[in-house]
Amino acid sequence: IVLHITDRDGVTHTVDAPTDMGLNLMEVVRMYELAPEGTIGVCGGMAMCASCQCYVLNEVELPEKGDDEEAMLSEAFNVKPNSRLGCQVQITESIDGLAVELAPEY
Ligand code: FES
Repeated sequence: IVLHITDRDGVTHTVDAPTDMGLNLMEVVRMYELAPEGTIGVCGGMAMCASCQCYVLNEVELPEKGDDEEAMLSEAFNVKPNSRLGCQVQITESIDGLAVELAPEY
């Protein structure tokens, strides 16, 4: 599938993300090195750090947030109504065309 990911410098990257590798959005950002090492995926994708927070920019519908994601976002900085944790967003056909912007580092 194709994803549009705007990095923390405001540059938008259109990338291919495979659906058959069990990846999540945070891992795709790391795979393409769209954020410096150590600034995203700090907790390893456990919904415990919010370093993978991103803002959904278009109408692509994502699965509902899980309880862990809700809990982490309720404590994180820079949270907006369209915030999601990248590590909790699985790469599946249904999110083809998703556009997100990485939240600021903190
Ligand atoms: Fe830590 Fe997503 S990588 S919350």
